Amino acid sequence: MNDPHARSRSLPPEGALSGFGRPGATEMNESAPGESPTRLSITLPDDWHLHLRDGEALRAVVAASATAFGRAIVMPNLRPPVVTVAQALAYRTRIEAALADALSQGELAAEAAASFRPLMTLYLTDRTSPEEIRHGVESGAVSAVKLYPAGATTNSDAGVTDMRRVAPALAAMERHGLPLLVHGEVADPAVDVFDRERVFIERVMTPLRRDFPALRVVFEHVTTAEAVQYVRDVDGPVAATMTPQHLLYNRNAIFTGGLRPHWYCLPVLKRERHRLALVEAATSGDPRFFLGTDSAPHAARLKEHAAACAGCYTAPHAIELYATVFEMQGRLDRLEAFASFHGADFYGLPRNQERVELVRENWTVPESLPFGADSIVPLAGGEVLRWRLYRTGRRQPE
Ligand code: NCD
Ligand code: ZN
Repeated sequence: MNDPHARSRSLPPEGALSGFGRPGATEMNESAPGESPTRLSITLPDDWHLHLRDGEALRAVVAASATAFGRAIVMPNLRPPVVTVAQALAYRTRIEAALADALSQGELAAEAAASFRPLMTLYLTDRTSPEEIRHGVESGAVSAVKLYPAGATTNSDAGVTDMRRVAPALAAMERHGLPLLVHGEVADPAVDVFDRERVFIERVMTPLRRDFPALRVVFEHVTTAEAVQYVRDVDGPVAATMTPQHLLYNRNAIFTGGLRPHWYCLPVLKRERHRLALVEAATSGDPRFFLGTDSAPHAARLKEHAAACAGCYTAPHAIELYATVFEMQGRLDRLEAFASFHGADFYGLPRNQERVELVRENWTVPESLPFGADSIVPLAGGEVLRWRLYRTGRRQPE
């Protein structure tokens, strides 16, 4: 017991999963008026922002997403990044092989393996050509293109150095209706880390929207009241994804009882007032806001490191984390639209038909999971969640 964190580690960081026990929504299935429901049936959700990695890491995480989600927008920030349609197709084949392997090892149910659709993205670089965009659209293999400002986050060195350089590619995307997904932070070292999203709105989003007004844009993993306001106010096809960590935690979580690398992601967690604005938007029913976990797995040894990697791993319990937020807000009745409708509608894809069940059941998030030769610490590892997802017709509550 000479680990100074041994005790605090089992406690949720301040302001974390502490709102449990508040009365939830009242009109849910199987709930009496005034009571929180015990079961909640929703349409199978989709994850509109996911990192699946590659190789052993891909193999370790893919079953978790395929179990809980129908489709996932797969981020292209591999090393080397996915910049061509051919690379996206090859990556999709590797994802399908990993799914087949997980199925054969009994780590994934057959229905989930059969229904999961990885939706591929291209990594925008200064050299992305309009021809590659057209090829992506015509092949049907590319669902979106991701903008990483160079240097903004994990594997973003090949990202965009100047928006003027990508104008031809953006014009082609606007013409073809292919969405641009933005990591909305400037990489300028002179800008305070906590202000990088707000400054991105002024320096990049506003000119981008002016120059390409019909371009479909997803402001990924929004973290600030300013980004929420921007998405609400702007005219045109703009939406935003929200992660469980930004809805559940404020920046104190990174510093509670010591430096907590498993709560470190980019964009970094913000002040409580921002979290409250995000929760309000997510639970408002506004179709511009939808689920994107940004589940970003890194080996525990690289998170618990002098230069800790950014990213929270949430794929195995993401729906449950979101359910926690919606319940704390008394708005479980709006979880389904946020998780299963708004994203599909924005992408112009059919809503899933299959239904899943959230069951009111206490369970403890594992403190650690296998990750190839390494291990990985899921967000909120060791904490108790009140909801558990069951894929209807598959694993039933014991
Ligand atoms: C992501 C990753 O690890 O790939 N990390 C993160 O903190 N979100 C990159 C990203 O989406 O910014
Ligand atoms: Zn991401």
